[in-house]
Amino acid sequence: MTDLKQPLTFRHGATVRNRFVEAPMLTSSGNAGFATQDTIDYYRARSKAGGMIITGYTYVSENGGPSDTWRDDQTQLAIYDDKFVPQLTKVAQAIKQDGNKAILQIVHTGRWASFQAMQGKPVYGPSAIPTPSYPVLELTDTQIRKIISDFGAATKRAIAAGFDGVEIHGANHFLNQQFFSKYFNRRTDHWGGSLEKRMNFPLAVVKAVTDVVKQLAPKNFIVGYRISPEEIHRHNGYTWRESTQLIDQITQKFALDYIHLSMARYDQRPANPQDADKTLAELFQPVLNGAKEIAVGGVNSQATAEAASQLADLVAVATENLIDPLFADKVLRGADDQVVRQMTVSQLKAAHLTPGLIERYFRR
Ligand SMILES: Cc1cc2nc3c(=O)[nH]c(=O)nc-3n(C[C@H](O)[C@H](O)[C@H](O)COP(=O)(O)O)c2cc1C
Repeated sequence: MTDLKQPLTFRHGATVRNRFVEAPMLTSSGNAGFATQDTIDYYRARSKAGGMIITGYTYVSENGGPSDTWRDDQTQLAIYDDKFVPQLTKVAQAIKQDGNKAILQIVHTGRWASFQAMQGKPVYGPSAIPTPSYPVLELTDTQIRKIISDFGAATKRAIAAGFDGVEIHGANHFLNQQFFSKYFNRRTDHWGGSLEKRMNFPLAVVKAVTDVVKQLAPKNFIVGYRISPEEIHRHNGYTWRESTQLIDQITQKFALDYIHLSMARYDQRPANPQDADKTLAELFQPVLNGAKEIAVGGVNSQATAEAASQLADLVAVATENLIDPLFADKVLRGADDQVVRQMTVSQLKAAHLTPGLIERYFRR
């Protein structure tokens, strides 16, 4: 069994001090895409939330986000222009203050860029399939190539801002996943059709990112990829048998540091139980090709963290870290009995949540 306190070294040389990771979480604390003092305070309070802290997604193209935004003064963070770098530098510094690694999650939200629609701007996806609330336009080949280069430019900015790595957001129904999904991608050109062609966009994004890393980043810069192992809950977009093929391609071609499985439970099994008798974390192990694996979902105690660490190299925590930013620190010190698991009025102060998060999750 992996000891949660045991350091881990990624293939490009970066070492994290323990097996906890803070999972990416939107903070709803941006102002027109810029990180604010609320963002910085939130991350400063979470600098001990793991050996590695992954930020909420930042969108790489002006038309690439955000989703989950309803107010101009509580937006998600952007990285589509150099103007965002100074504030993001402060975010990286806040995360790294205790010696842990800061990873910036990068995304294009594609058809779910609802804030664009709210502002009367067009929203794009691989295919013109409307959402219940607004129409979606099909991306042209030129637009697709621009978005791919935007991922590279965002990586360059993440390096300039002092992040230790980037995580490519290929999960949760955003653009990488939309291209990989046979439900959302109905194209018949280079970017869609067969399974192979549906891999072309995610593979091109990973190439753009790793090309910039090779050129500009320190040798031990961390690159990870987050994926939803299956898309079968609402539409049959792909199965784990297809997503393991994508990850096999990605890890073989680009030697990534880690693969992050986005799941509701760390020990989740395929939706069709007849299809496999293993957890998804186990099913992805044969295709890691030297990358480390992160599992997430439902970890909020020493017992669940230890159980998750038997299935994957690293254990990510989201919701519990909103409530108790010192969760990992307490478990690592053997103080599980001091972990706070319910949000209370007194814990609200210690949690250092942003006003946007309080409004969304805890104001009743
Ligand atoms: C407030 C909030 C914001 C989230 N934002 C993101 C995000 O920006 N990117 C992402 O990949 N996942 C996001 N997630 C999903 C989490 O990373 C995680 O996969 C999920 O919450 C399951 O872990 P948990 O059971 O520990 O909460 C978010 C979750 C929460 C609760």
